[in-house]
Amino acid sequence: MRKLWIILLSITAISVHAQKFERLAKTPPMGWNSWNKFGCDINETIIKEIADAMVSNGMKSAGYQYIVIDDCWQIGRDSLGNIIADPERFPSGMKKLGEYIHSKGLKFGIYSDAGTETCQRRPGSRGYEFQDARTYAEWGVDFLKYDWCYHGKQTQEPSYITMRDAIYKAGRPMVYSICEWGTGKPWEWGKDVGHLWRTTEDIINCFDCINDWGGLGVMQIIDLEASLGNYSGPDHWNDPDMLEVGNGVLTVGEERLHISMWSMFSAPLMAGNDIRKMSTETTKLLTNKEVIAIDQDSLGFSAIRWMKYGDLEVWFKALSNGEYAFCILNRGKDPITINQDLKTTIKRKFTIDNNFIIRDVWKQKDIGTTKDNFVQVIPGHDAVLLKLIKR
Ligand code: GLA
Repeated sequence: MRKLWIILLSITAISVHAQKFERLAKTPPMGWNSWNKFGCDINETIIKEIADAMVSNGMKSAGYQYIVIDDCWQIGRDSLGNIIADPERFPSGMKKLGEYIHSKGLKFGIYSDAGTETCQRRPGSRGYEFQDARTYAEWGVDFLKYDWCYHGKQTQEPSYITMRDAIYKAGRPMVYSICEWGTGKPWEWGKDVGHLWRTTEDIINCFDCINDWGGLGVMQIIDLEASLGNYSGPDHWNDPDMLEVGNGVLTVGEERLHISMWSMFSAPLMAGNDIRKMSTETTKLLTNKEVIAIDQDSLGFSAIRWMKYGDLEVWFKALSNGEYAFCILNRGKDPITINQDLKTTIKRKFTIDNNFIIRDVWKQKDIGTTKDNFVQVIPGHDAVLLKLIKR
């Protein structure tokens, strides 16, 4: 009898293996992250005001929910190795801040790094993974972004698996955001490890440029994302980085193109601006429900670049109800006029028999059908987002 119990117990122990918490990100996570706008200049007042704003400015009801505190919240470790939040910037402590965020009906995200130090040289989690995950669980953390600076001779996959296992052991479900900038092809191994993975180096606040020291503009990221669509889907998303919408450099047209394409890619939508004081234009760009519905479509399809004529590109995305989203973008400076017999073109490509209503998603207006010619001017550095709705 005793032997039987021992055998049964060992079988149970073997079958409870570590894994990621599943189904936490059936659609791409939406929220806000402190890095793009505030860098290291963060504190609990800003975070609380951001949480308040997310509720009052309509972002929460549009679907945004995670408030992620990026690098620089941590200042050291105590004699037992526990991570310490900067007491000057976060005097109430992280648990209290998490409670505040939760009291607004939002979710609490935090940042650490798989190496010995974070990118801003704060303590990393290397060697402290299980202890840190326990601490985050005690603080009520719902989302961990895990970076890749100062990783020494570590390799990506096992390092990210260690933190995944630590989160699982700590027992609190957390969305796990892998941030190793695409260096170890996380799209090939990330599905069972995390819920999203950065595909590229950091986004910088520009439309079409590359920084020598690292950092890519919106168009450069779009080009890199183009070949990775097959790897992305519900609960395991490609992450082309946070939004630069509302950060004062991109034109409204460029911002429209940026968020249109992030929605076409089924990308996580993490606002990166100061949402406490946004222009009406920025608020509209971030909270258009029809655009967000394309991003959050349950199929989780990532757009395909369907046609390219010079600066004009047409991307398409299949939607769960048999309809389609199209993004027509102009990467050049000059306006381009389109005069297309869409029905014939679409039929040729997809063998679709239905006639579709064409809806301009940004304007939230039906603008014709695929029976008619589609005539439109696409201004330079801008995009039109269309939905083809079954008649
Ligand atoms: C890396 C990440 C960024 C941000 C910074 C913080 O560069 O890719 O998204 O988290 O570190 O230091």
